[in-house]
Amino acid sequence: MDKLLIAGGKRLSGTLRVSGAKNSALPILAGCVLTPEPVALDNLPHLHDVTTMLELLGCLGAEVVVDEKMRVEVSARHLDQLCAPYELVKTMRASFVVMGPLLARFGEAEVSLPGGCAIGARPVDQHLKAFEALGADIEVRDGYVIGRAPDGLTGADFRFDLVTVGGTQNLLMAATLARGTTRIGNAACEPEVKDLGDFLNAMGARVSGHGTPEIVVEGVDALHGCTYRIMPDRVEAGTYLIAAAATRGRIRLNQAAPDTLSAVLDKLREAGADVSTGEDWIELDMHGRRPVAVDVETAVYPGFPTDMQAQFLALNAVADGDSTITETIFENRFMHVQEINRLGARIELDGPSRARVHGVDTLKAAPVMATDLRASFSLVVAALVAEGTTLIDRIYHIDRGYETIEEKLSQLGADVQRVSRAPARSPARAGASG
Ligand code: UD1
Repeated sequence: MDKLLIAGGKRLSGTLRVSGAKNSALPILAGCVLTPEPVALDNLPHLHDVTTMLELLGCLGAEVVVDEKMRVEVSARHLDQLCAPYELVKTMRASFVVMGPLLARFGEAEVSLPGGCAIGARPVDQHLKAFEALGADIEVRDGYVIGRAPDGLTGADFRFDLVTVGGTQNLLMAATLARGTTRIGNAACEPEVKDLGDFLNAMGARVSGHGTPEIVVEGVDALHGCTYRIMPDRVEAGTYLIAAAATRGRIRLNQAAPDTLSAVLDKLREAGADVSTGEDWIELDMHGRRPVAVDVETAVYPGFPTDMQAQFLALNAVADGDSTITETIFENRFMHVQEINRLGARIELDGPSRARVHGVDTLKAAPVMATDLRASFSLVVAALVAEGTTLIDRIYHIDRGYETIEEKLSQLGADVQRVSRAPARSPARAGASG
């Protein structure tokens, strides 16, 4: 199992290209089964989660061709089966978004329930209610959701009980081929939902209002192939900005989408960063200063994203002053706290959704373990600041969502190595004594 060795204490400095957005790429890949014609996608990130989705498409019977620049062509002319098996869905909850497109085009779908997950229960009740609203019969049997709409789906007015990104995407795709008009209320406004709507429109769908809480979809008879470029990854961009700020460094991000990151950029400015932006670039400079502690509360878009909570917590851990981090989207998303504390941070949990952080001047290397995708990067941020060499275990979590992490960090001057086994002597001790 791969691990990362990070020798901390270096200020990050340099320029990076932001990758394509994972959370946009996954539903868009699923959306390719809405048409029998080939769809070409550019700017797909090279990530384990994307490979899992491509594997799922292949398993359904779609033809997938990937070139060396990660341009992917998906052709779902004939599908051999309409079932997404447990083996694939259990490794990636986002696979559940194939249900909407399969139901829409074929009138039937069988998708494994995603089950529990490291950051909370994460049910799919809202997805199922939405399919039922469009006239599908939904049955949950033997761990699978079986959906049937032999005469096709019918447009309807549907309001989500809570804001769900995946639920909105699933319903949006299902509605494109439904008879009549679907009005989605309390829809997620996340930029990845907007990107999906734009993609569907490029295929001939009639979606409006995407990116707002009220989406209207006028069903069409068929969708056609298209070429589409995935939006830049705002979570990856924000993560590297936070990492640079924590190390008192500077960074320029190219091919970024600053307008999707306002809440994070505001918090970084509050923390003392000098941030400037252009149409597709972002620059951050701490001028060597220690960050100032900032309170953060996660919220649905355009609020502060839950996917950047762990990384900001790591920044606050080494900031000047005390702060509070409040998580409102997921009920169990502070598993990184114990691990960061192993490096000498002073973070206390106040109930399941609040962390109180007492900023310390520096951290000390120790072996740690990644627990989930974004939490893993908070350990990277902490390790980059810590004195000595930190070994981060279980980095397959990081590989799910961060493209070529060691190359990108090295480009910024970090001392990072991927190793497949731990060095004989504890690197933390080696670093601390050296
Ligand atoms: C997506 C993102 C994930 C991000 C999350 C919130 C992808 C692949 N993943 O996940 O990175 O952290 O949005 O921005 O895009 N819920 C229900 N019932 C449902 C659906 C959701 O109760 O049917 C709850 C969830 O348990 C959670 C909250 O709603 O507490 C938000 O979940 P949701 O927005 O659906 O997250 P995902 O789409 O899974």
